[in-house]
Amino acid sequence: MDSIGSLGLQQGEGAPSCPQEGLPCPSNSSEMVQECLQQFKVTGAQLRQIQTSLLGSMEQALRGQVGPAPAVRMLPTYVGSTPHGTEKGDFVVLELGATGASLRVLWVTLTGIEGHKVEPRSQEFVIPQEVMLGPGQQAYSIDVVAVVNDTVGTMMGCEPGVGPCEVGLVVDTGTNACYMEEARHVAVLDEDRGRVCISIEWGSFSDEGALGPVQTIFDHTLDHESLNPGAQRFEKMIGGLYLGELVRLVLVHLAQRGVLFGGHTSPVLRSQGSILLEHVAEMEDPSAGAARVHAVLQDLGLNPKASDAEWVQCVCMAVCTRAAQLCAAALAAVLSRLQHSREQQALQIAVATGGRVFERHPRFLSVLRETVMLLAPNCDVSFIPSVDGGGRGVAMVTAVAARLAAHRRLLEETLAPFRLTREQLAEVQAQMREAMAKGLQGEASSLRMLPTYVRATPDGSERGDFLALDLGGTNFRVLLVRVTTGGVQISSQIYSIPECVAQGSGQQLFDHIVDCIVDFQQKQGLSGQSLPLGFTFSFPCRQMGLDQGILLNWTKGFNASDCEGQDVVCLLREAIRRRQAVELNVVAIVNDTVGTMMSCGYEDPHCEVGLIVGTGTNVCYMEELRNVASVDGDSGQMCINTEWGAFGDDGSLSMLSTRFDASVDQASINPGKQRFEKMISGMYLGEIVRHILLHLTSLGVLFRGQQTQRLQTRDIFKTKFLSEIESDSLALRQVRAILEDLGLPLTSDDALMVLEVCQAVSQRAAQLCGAGVAAVVEKIRENRGLEELTISVGVDGTLYKLHPHFSSLVAATVRELAPRCVVTFLQSEDGSGKGAALVTAVACRLAQRTRI
Ligand code: G6P
Ligand code: BGC
Repeated sequence: MDSIGSLGLQQGEGAPSCPQEGLPCPSNSSEMVQECLQQFKVTGAQLRQIQTSLLGSMEQALRGQVGPAPAVRMLPTYVGSTPHGTEKGDFVVLELGATGASLRVLWVTLTGIEGHKVEPRSQEFVIPQEVMLGPGQQAYSIDVVAVVNDTVGTMMGCEPGVGPCEVGLVVDTGTNACYMEEARHVAVLDEDRGRVCISIEWGSFSDEGALGPVQTIFDHTLDHESLNPGAQRFEKMIGGLYLGELVRLVLVHLAQRGVLFGGHTSPVLRSQGSILLEHVAEMEDPSAGAARVHAVLQDLGLNPKASDAEWVQCVCMAVCTRAAQLCAAALAAVLSRLQHSREQQALQIAVATGGRVFERHPRFLSVLRETVMLLAPNCDVSFIPSVDGGGRGVAMVTAVAARLAAHRRLLEETLAPFRLTREQLAEVQAQMREAMAKGLQGEASSLRMLPTYVRATPDGSERGDFLALDLGGTNFRVLLVRVTTGGVQISSQIYSIPECVAQGSGQQLFDHIVDCIVDFQQKQGLSGQSLPLGFTFSFPCRQMGLDQGILLNWTKGFNASDCEGQDVVCLLREAIRRRQAVELNVVAIVNDTVGTMMSCGYEDPHCEVGLIVGTGTNVCYMEELRNVASVDGDSGQMCINTEWGAFGDDGSLSMLSTRFDASVDQASINPGKQRFEKMISGMYLGEIVRHILLHLTSLGVLFRGQQTQRLQTRDIFKTKFLSEIESDSLALRQVRAILEDLGLPLTSDDALMVLEVCQAVSQRAAQLCGAGVAAVVEKIRENRGLEELTISVGVDGTLYKLHPHFSSLVAATVRELAPRCVVTFLQSEDGSGKGAALVTAVACRLAQRTRI
C-alpha cells in the first residue's frame, strides 16, 4: 500500500486501533471485522486510477462523444460568470424542499463592493395539502429567472475575497460537482469565447475498471436493493443517503456472524434506511463518547455490549473515510481538468463545499483535503464552506445574470455609435465624392486634392542609383535604391526621430535629417557623391513642381516650429548648406501615398491608387488633368494627393463623431484637424479604445468600476494591442495576459468586453476607409466613362498590414459600395522610399530626354 492508502483507518485522525485487545469477542472476530474493514480500504493507485478514468470520462463528454459505459454527463448550466463582488440589490429565492412539502423563501440583500456582504433572511412555509394536490395554478405567477443545480448554487454563493471560487462540490444525499470550463471546449455549445459552468453529474460515473476493484459486497447489496440498481454507482459509495445504509449492511453482516451485539440484530437494524447519515456522524464524533454510541444503537433496537461501540465506530470510519477519499479522487480529476484547460501548471483555486455530509460529518473534509493534496500536489486548494446552502448562490446566479445583462446593455449603448449602417457608409462615400470634386475645383472643401506633378508611372526604362529619404511614418529611413535592368535593389537604414526633435525647432529637425544622410553615405561608401534624391515626406504639401512642396500643416506626432508655410525642399537644402560637407541633388518630393502607388505600379500597371493606413491615413490616385483646376493643361493625368485625413474638418463628419472621438481630438496636438484620420489611423485607435474603457469603468461595467492609474495614462493602449487582441488565434486567456502586462488586471468577462470594444473601433475604421476608397475608385470609373473598372490599389501602413481583419473589412466595404469596380489591393513590400526613388528616376529620364 502506498502513501495514500496509509491515510486509511490505522492512521486516520482519532482512529482507535481496531479491534482492541482483550475484548470478549468470538475467537476469530478480529479477523472477521478486519476482513470487512479491509474491503473499504482504497490504495493510492486505485484512487489515481479513478482520477484518471473520471478525467477521461469528463473529457469524452465535453467532446460530445458517447462512450460505451454510462459516463458523467458534463451538463452546461448557462452560468457563464462567477460573482464579481459588485452585485447589488434584493433577490428572492424560492427553494422547494427535497420532499416538496415545504417552501423556503430566501431574501438576499447584496450590498456591492463596499464591504461585500450577503445578508440572507429566510422563512420556511409548509405547503398546505390542498395546494400540493391542487391543480397547480394559484393566484400568483412567478417568473422563473434561473433554475440552478445545487452545486452551482454552492459555487456562486461562495463569498468573494479568497480568489476565484470556480468549483462547487456538494456531498449531500447524493454527490456532484461543477466547475468553470472554457466554453470553446464544450462541444454542445457553439461558443468559442468565455467560460461556462459545467455540472459534471459525477454520481453516474461507473467505469468498471476503475470502480470494480474498490467495490465491496456491501456496495453490491446496496445497489441491488436500491430503487435504481446499476445506476449512480459512484454516488452510492459517497452520498449521505448511502453512508448509513452501508454501515447498516456491515453491522447486520457482523451481527449475523456473532461478532456484534451478541449475534443479535433487531427489526429496525434489518430494515432498509434505518441508519441515517446523522447516526453515523454522531457515532464517529470523537467528542461523543461511548455513551452516545450506545444510545444511538439502543435507538436502533439493539442491545450493545461495551465492546460493540468501538467496533461500530470502526465500521463508520471505514465507510466514511473511503467516501471522502473517493470524493477526493473525483475532485482531483476536476483540478487536473482545470490545470489542463487553463494551461496552468500550478493552480490556485477555491472550492465551495456544501451539503449535509460536510456539515455533519466530523472528518469528511479533513480526509478529503489530505487526499487531494496527495493526488493533486500542484494545486493550492482552499475549501470554503457554503454558509447558507445553495439558496444564496441561486440569488447570486440571478444577481450575476442581472449584472451581466445590465453591463451588456451599457456596452451595447456605448458601442452603438460605432456600428455604422450601410446607409451611413454610403453617405460618407457621397460626401467624400462631393468634397473631392470641390477640392479639385479649388472650392472650399476639407479635401485639399493636392497636385503632385507625378504624371506617369514608371515604364521600366529607368536606370541609375538614387538616394531616398522616407519621413513621416513609424520609421525614418535613408535608402540607396539601384534601378538596373535586373530590377530594383535597396539598401536602407532606419534612424530614430526622438519626439523632442519631431516637436522641437524646424532647424533642429532638418539638421538631424542631414546628419542621418551623412552617416548613411559614409556607411555606404557614397561620401562625396551627389546622387539624385527623392524625398518621401508624408505630410500635406502644396507642390508647385516635383521638387517644391510647401508644408501646409504638420500631422500625426510632428509639430516642429517654423516649418509650416515653408518649402520643405528649401528647408532640407538649407540644412545641407549648414552642414557644408555634403552636396545633395533633391529632385522630387513625394507623399508616401504616391511613393506606395509608384512602388506597386512598378510591378502592376493597373495600380493607380495609393493608400496608407498606418500612423496616419491618406489616399492618392490618378486624376484626369482636365479636372484639376489649379494645374494648366487638359490632356493626360496627374496623381492627386487627396489628404483625406482632413476630411470632415469642416464639420461634415460630426454626425458620426462620438464623445470618444471628441476626447481624442481635444487631447491631440492638432484639435479640430484630421478628423477622418483620427477615426481611422494607428496613431488614434488605441486612444479611442482607452477612452471607451475609461467610460465603461466609470459605469462600473469594466474592472469592477475601479479606475486604474495606468488607464489614465495617454497612449498606454497602443494600436498594436488591437491587432494582437483581435487575432483569432488568441484565446481570451492571452487577451488577459496582454492587458495584465499593461497593468490592467481583469476578469474573463472584462477581457471579452475589451475585445468587443477593440472590434467595434477597428471595424468602424476599416469601414470608413472602405467608404473612402469606394468614392475614389467610383470617381476614376466615371472619369473614364467605364461600365466596369478594373484597378489595383497599392497599400502600406502598419495598421493595414498587422491588423488581422482590417484589410478584409476594407475590401468588403468597397465591394458593397462600389460594385462596378473590381479592386485588387496590393501590399507594398518595400515602403514608399522605393517609390520616391522611382519618381526621381522617371524625372531624371524625362529630363535627359529633354536635354537630348
Ligand atoms: C510606408 C512608408 C512610410 C509611410 C508608412 C506608413 O512604408 O515608407 O513613409 O509613412 O508606410 O506606415 P506607418 O505605419 O509607418 O505610419
Ligand atoms: C498626412 C499624409 C500622409 C498620411 C499617411 C497624414 O497624416 O497628412 O500626408 O500621407 O498621414 O502617412
